[in-house]
Amino acid sequence: MLVSMKAILDDANQHGYGVMAMNSINLEMVRAGIQAAEEEKSAIIIQMGPNQIKQHASMKDLAPIVKNLAESASIPVALNLDHGTNYEDIIAAVQAGFTNVMFDGSSLSFEENVAKSELVVSVAHSVGCSVEAELGHVGQAVDGDDLDQDLLTNVAQAKEFVERTGVDALAVAVGTAHGDYPKGKVPKLDFERLAQLKAELDMPLVLHGGSGAGEENLKQAVACGINKINVCTDAFSHCVQTMAESLSDSKKMDYLAISMTVEANLKQFVKDYMRVIGSSGRYGYGKTGYNGHE
Ligand code: 13P
Repeated sequence: MLVSMKAILDDANQHGYGVMAMNSINLEMVRAGIQAAEEEKSAIIIQMGPNQIKQHASMKDLAPIVKNLAESASIPVALNLDHGTNYEDIIAAVQAGFTNVMFDGSSLSFEENVAKSELVVSVAHSVGCSVEAELGHVGQAVDGDDLDQDLLTNVAQAKEFVERTGVDALAVAVGTAHGDYPKGKVPKLDFERLAQLKAELDMPLVLHGGSGAGEENLKQAVACGINKINVCTDAFSHCVQTMAESLSDSKKMDYLAISMTVEANLKQFVKDYMRVIGSSGRYGYGKTGYNGHE
């Protein structure tokens, strides 16, 4: 079923587990994610960034794919606009039926981030769409530096930010970065800061840059309060790798067969991920509603 991201994350916050938010750009990726969730009895968040959408298709074309597959699934699915930075994209997503929008004001001043996030909240909430915002700044892994203290989320500021904006989930900067890390590097996360943020805010917290973070870091991040883990690079790389392997096997030189193999392998990747971050088995014990494990 299609639900607001808040509904999924409030439950994850209450029960202390993480939910995968996979950037997905086509039918095969969306279906792999939702079927994996169905088989794992887990929630899932399907998300896409404005540039990913515009490069490949349009919100009008992609949103119905997610909505249709979500409506026929028995587990909760949310559709999130990832990293919206302007009102035009955010309003378009709300109109297209996204059930959450992320406003990324992490490159703005604190006051500007507060003002713009607050406005997004008032618009999105008026039609039942939840909102994620970011405080601190999660950079690109190619930047290379560990834990630039100035960019990490400040606990006192975070409390003020959440109180003033009313956001439903907060993306925090605690040491991960977007994209591929340099070969062999595993990021060092500031778990102490993360635990303090959770204790102060007691709300769903989001980890961007889930790719390459490493299983132990992911488990520890969830234990310290992360409820949503964004995964883009690893999912895309997984698809490319499967495709390359299929192409090198001449017997599989068929586009439909390759697409189906990519989807099947991605589904297994998502299932494995769900087991690591603790969302597997949380739904579907025969009770009604998405919150089936109270
Ligand atoms: P990765 O590409 O590092 O997984 O980051 C994804 C992300 O945070 C999307 O918002």
